[in-house]
Amino acid sequence: MEIPVFVLDAFTNLLFKGNPAAICPLMHELSDDLYQKIATEMNLSETAFITRTNPSDSFSTGSRFRLRWFTPTNEVNLCGHATLASGAMLFEHQNNVNPTVVFETLSGDLAVTKKGDGYVMDFPLNPPGQEVQVRVCELKCVFACVTQVAVGNHPVQDVCLSPTTKKLMIRLADSCDRSVLTSLKVDAAALQSTEKSGRVKGLIITAKGSPDCQPGYDFYSRFFAPWNGIDEDPVTGSAHTVLGSYWSEKLGKKKMLAYQCSSRGGELELEVRDDGRINISGQAVSVLQGTITI
Ligand SMILES: *[C@@H]1O[C@H](CO)[C@@H](O)[C@H](O)[C@H]1NC(C)=O
Ligand SMILES: *[C@@H]1O[C@H](CO)[C@@H](O)[C@H](O)[C@H]1NC(C)=O
Repeated sequence: MEIPVFVLDAFTNLLFKGNPAAICPLMHELSDDLYQKIATEMNLSETAFITRTNPSDSFSTGSRFRLRWFTPTNEVNLCGHATLASGAMLFEHQNNVNPTVVFETLSGDLAVTKKGDGYVMDFPLNPPGQEVQVRVCELKCVFACVTQVAVGNHPVQDVCLSPTTKKLMIRLADSCDRSVLTSLKVDAAALQSTEKSGRVKGLIITAKGSPDCQPGYDFYSRFFAPWNGIDEDPVTGSAHTVLGSYWSEKLGKKKMLAYQCSSRGGELELEVRDDGRINISGQAVSVLQGTITI
């Protein structure tokens, strides 16, 4: 059996930046075990599998597909960069003729529309939920421990837990600039051993941006998900379903430009919509095209 595979860097227009995803367009469904083995072998944050919903469609004519995402250790409910890369693969490599393709996923229908040099994704918005009270001295509180492990003694302004995505979000105080966030050394193994309750599956650390400098980022972030086999994810669409909701409210803005300042780095354009969803836009570049032979 031959399985085509594409690797694209998502949320960037520069090769070797952004977040790489492996995308396998499949004529037939394969077993979950095989999906997992391929994703483990690829060892990227996510490997995505696309299948047709209608057997008479092809990858160039179809407008609805099924999409599943696997990390090196497990399947996940929502993934932004591999969805962007899946759309880009259909438009760029399969010459898909539709303006929009819709993916049926564990998070419902997700549409990807070609626009300008990039793609717009129609994603759910996940409000960050109640702010969790954190005092670093209360080490009994697991969130305080996670915060301590992640940001040490840097001042923290807010800690929130998004219940739907199980993402814990720590906002550094506004006195911390981008370089504080960039230089944080987060011990992913320590994070995972600190939080074993199952309530947290990802850690977002964010800081207010500097919209007055060019190109004017509204906020910065980094994302860690050792609970899903990803120490640091380079650029994370799903984290921006939480960040978009949080910063939209704090900044009083619907449209925002965000930068995820991992070492690879990537840029996301966000638009919080009146219907309670969020448009997440970005670019993607192809890196590799090949065949898995089984
Ligand atoms: C998989 O990737 C992670 C980080 O991206 C790395 O630490 C690990 O060594 C890799 N595993 C293998 C088997 O290459
Ligand atoms: C993004 O959001 C706005 C609504 O706020 C909508 O009008 C627009 O069509 C959306 N999608 C795209 C592809 O731009």
